[in-house]
Amino acid sequence: MTEGEREHEVLLSTVRPLTGWYRKNKRNLPWRNQADAYHIWVSEIMLQQTRVEAVKAYYARFLEELPNVKALAEADEDRLLKLWEGLGYYNRVRNMQKAARQIMEIHQGAFPETYEEIRALTGIGNYTAGAVASFAFGIPKPAVDGNVLRVVSRLLCSEEDIMKAGVRSRIEQKIEAVIPKDAASDFNQGLIELGAIVCVPNGAPKCDICPLADICQARAKGCQEQLPVKKKAKERRIEKRTVFIFRDNCTVAIKKRPARGLLAGLYELPNVSGHLNGQEAIDYSKSIGLTPVRIKELGAAKHIFSHVEWHMVGYEVLVDELERNCSEAMIFADCGELEKKYPIPAAFSAYRVTFS
Ligand code: ADE
Ligand code: SF4
Repeated sequence: MTEGEREHEVLLSTVRPLTGWYRKNKRNLPWRNQADAYHIWVSEIMLQQTRVEAVKAYYARFLEELPNVKALAEADEDRLLKLWEGLGYYNRVRNMQKAARQIMEIHQGAFPETYEEIRALTGIGNYTAGAVASFAFGIPKPAVDGNVLRVVSRLLCSEEDIMKAGVRSRIEQKIEAVIPKDAASDFNQGLIELGAIVCVPNGAPKCDICPLADICQARAKGCQEQLPVKKKAKERRIEKRTVFIFRDNCTVAIKKRPARGLLAGLYELPNVSGHLNGQEAIDYSKSIGLTPVRIKELGAAKHIFSHVEWHMVGYEVLVDELERNCSEAMIFADCGELEKKYPIPAAFSAYRVTFS
């Protein structure tokens, strides 16, 4: 038997125990047990970046406000970003809106029902297309995310680097070759669920309760904790920034970020490059036309993006008649508006404005 044939045999033998295990042990999550493609799509995009527990509330609120493709296609951008506030990777929700508009135009508003048509939508890659196609329509295409890469590396005792695109696409092909036509959804979700609750990352998988323990090659060799091999991505650049809460009694200054680049189109607290000390913060405030009445240091905070880390310090600067005196282009939001209207990314959450 060749290596490829042996791997095929291993994966094929997981099908029955894994689907059986999934049906008995799956967690009851809001996006399961229903097959609405739009719902599944929304949940999968959220789950790519956030833990299951945190997704639940976002998911419910998103579907309540935008219950179908048409509503998403027509949503106002600020409202859309507000629904995504705190989830990060805001281009994902913008791409969802582009895809929703494509569905309106090309498919008359009906979610497409073939893998190829789903995969062709903006922002939908192999994983999401496979997830929607298999969970909603039972199409036997693979849905290989980080969970599945880990499980498969261990099942096959493969030391290939799962950060490499070539390795990922070979794993997709191997999975596709064994997906059962009568249980594509349960098999794919079974792999994801096993990775989430049994074959867990960071150290010790729970092999003693694993339905695939007898099949697993890593367990047989005792190397499951060393897998998967995942070479580190390039180091992130560190940027120092100083964040300002410029406020008077009931207004606070915010800015809209440029339409391109990091956190594009979202709103932010005014901020400048570098770490300013108290005197420099006062000087800066004056340079933009403000007269500080009181200044308070807010302490340090850090936010990690995919390619940059912001290391921030902050100041709350109380000024007299904010709106009349500021020479910079700002938006002056009142207490209520800040919460309800403007999407402010989690990067600034250490510097939440409170009016008392
Ligand atoms: N992670 C990615 N997709 C998931 C799903 N459908 N259920 C639970 N966790 C997931
Ligand atoms: Fe993962 Fe252990 Fe199960 Fe192998 S036996 S798939 S390492 S949990």
